[in-house]
Amino acid sequence: MKTPFSRILYGGDYNPNQWPREIWAEDMALFKKAGINSATVNVFSWAKLQPDENTYDFSELDDIIAMLSENGIDIVLATATGAMPAWMAKKYPEVTRVDFEGRRHKFGQRHNHCPNSLVWQKYAARLAGELAKRYGSNPHVVCWHINNEYNTGCYCENCEKAFRIWLREKYGTLEAVNAAWNTEFWGHTFYDWDEIVAPNNLSDGMGFGFTRKTAFAGISIDYDRFLSDSLLENYKLERDAIRAYDKETPITTNLMGTYNGLDYFKWAKEMDIVSWDNYPAYNTPWSFTAMRHDLMRGLKDAPFMLMEQTPSQQNWQPYNSLKKPGQMRAQSYQTVAHGADTIQFFQLRRSKGACEKFHGAVIAHSGSGDTRVFKECSQLGEELKKLGAETLGAKNTAEVGIIFDWDNYWALEYTSGPNVDLKYVDQIHQYYQYFYEHHIPVDMIPVDGDFSRYKAICAPVLYMVKEGVAEALEAFVEAGGTLITGMMSGIVDQSDNVHLGGYPGPLRRLCGIWAEEIDALAPEQSNTLRFPDGIETQCKLLCDIIRPEGAETLAVYGGDFYEGTPAVTKNSFGKGTVYYVGTQPDHDGIAKILDALTAGADVKPLIPDETELEVDLRTIEGREYWFIINLTGTPKSAPESFRGETDILTGEPVGELQGFDTVIVRR
Ligand code: GLA
Ligand code: ZN
Repeated sequence: MKTPFSRILYGGDYNPNQWPREIWAEDMALFKKAGINSATVNVFSWAKLQPDENTYDFSELDDIIAMLSENGIDIVLATATGAMPAWMAKKYPEVTRVDFEGRRHKFGQRHNHCPNSLVWQKYAARLAGELAKRYGSNPHVVCWHINNEYNTGCYCENCEKAFRIWLREKYGTLEAVNAAWNTEFWGHTFYDWDEIVAPNNLSDGMGFGFTRKTAFAGISIDYDRFLSDSLLENYKLERDAIRAYDKETPITTNLMGTYNGLDYFKWAKEMDIVSWDNYPAYNTPWSFTAMRHDLMRGLKDAPFMLMEQTPSQQNWQPYNSLKKPGQMRAQSYQTVAHGADTIQFFQLRRSKGACEKFHGAVIAHSGSGDTRVFKECSQLGEELKKLGAETLGAKNTAEVGIIFDWDNYWALEYTSGPNVDLKYVDQIHQYYQYFYEHHIPVDMIPVDGDFSRYKAICAPVLYMVKEGVAEALEAFVEAGGTLITGMMSGIVDQSDNVHLGGYPGPLRRLCGIWAEEIDALAPEQSNTLRFPDGIETQCKLLCDIIRPEGAETLAVYGGDFYEGTPAVTKNSFGKGTVYYVGTQPDHDGIAKILDALTAGADVKPLIPDETELEVDLRTIEGREYWFIINLTGTPKSAPESFRGETDILTGEPVGELQGFDTVIVRR
């Protein structure tokens, strides 16, 4: 999809409604100074716009929109439904949520509505429609922002009823539901639809820790699918209400990267453009942030918006470190390098009260432009202005695809055993990190994606293998593709019932192995991978005990009663190759296995040089944009391949990069 914007939107959340009017004029002057060309407004203004059930008051928003329009600022207009007004909760208590513990919430917080409340739906859609009617034709409104960071979790009786309807649509009969959930276990057979209840701590919940684990993962997975669908219906309701008045302006909602609660691949199909909020912690690896950007790009296989990042610090993490000088700029370019067409902050002016008063902003509590953060924002604003529209819509291309699947995410984390430390996103990241460190671009792809575009597909912990997936992977490998999968793969179907006949179930033929048993290792335990060249690396977490069925052995275990048995295997299948990694190798072990894979699959890095700098490529209309980003914080020389070329940001020749410096080379 072509980008809907005519320039890189540079701005962010702006809440002038929290400030007296004299501040507004100061804001406009400071925005101009900082090169801010966009503002996201109205995110939490429902209570202001609708003081009671029958009254709308748009007077203040009219003034805000007029002011921004006069100042040539592109407006990202939110529908304000991220927090309901207090009167609604008072008059219709069913609009609030019931949590996993079964407690009905009172008014408070935000993201607080029951997605299946008809009252909430009615008022939300009506408000979105009113806003579109009023502002949809304003040329300065360049994007609609529905709700805010949708997240799941209602277990009320309304949701329970809606869940039964959802199940009826999915399964048709109660017999099919009973079969899917294996309800013979612990005598759960249902004879009537209304015997089915929401899976929380008052019903099947396992009641310990902070998990939402239940005795029936199959029920919980379906409930998550249902909640994701319910919120998506909310989104569609508002979207359609907007579309009744505004046919053109792109519509989005801000997602949260690897957030567990919503099936973002399904959501993205309903969104015109993906947007997301990037809040790494002080110790988040850069590869992890890069992976989440790639995932957000992968949702629609298209450029995305960075709807939020902090210019300096958060307030809600345990340790809200400042971004070091230059770091915000480097992170912003990392975002653009992975496919973003906007750079937006939360927020433009720091709030004066409530829980986000310590959250960084372009304009600090001092109110002045004379701060380090403001100056760094201004420098970036200036640079982005110079860059103009030339990178907009540019494509990222990859030879490697990593499968990310929310059903699988839910299933893996709901399952009881074998190892509580197994975390879906970490497993995916281990593989991603290798490619990141080797400057090999990656696409994050859905499980039903077009595999034929890639030389290699990684499917770590592909625990749930849904209908058609094994066949698609077989076709990919048969035609010459390279696949890597491993422990905890091929084990269950869409309902968390085991594919009988030996692990990895439907992948067994493809992998040429049978994983007979799975050993779980506690944090203080480990084993080793012994490679034929004598190198031995650590492994932990899980160890599959493998019987080869045609596959060759690439490494064996170095210890325990299964010492000397295969831990990593390689199988030829059709014209292609399948690697199976039966355990969690350490960093070096993964590198050794993936070195072999990339060589065998002819997957090439972007550059031949070894460097600690991040290197990314976006292309458009025959132009190449090379991003060389120093996220290390210490000076590093640019890779040889770029020496002597010109940094289009500064016009200077490419040489040494200071800590957190970035250069962009156009070829
Ligand atoms: C989220 C929200 C914002 C704000 C920021 C603070 O991303 O969408 O409203 O609360 O977090 O980091
Ligand atoms: Zn509910």
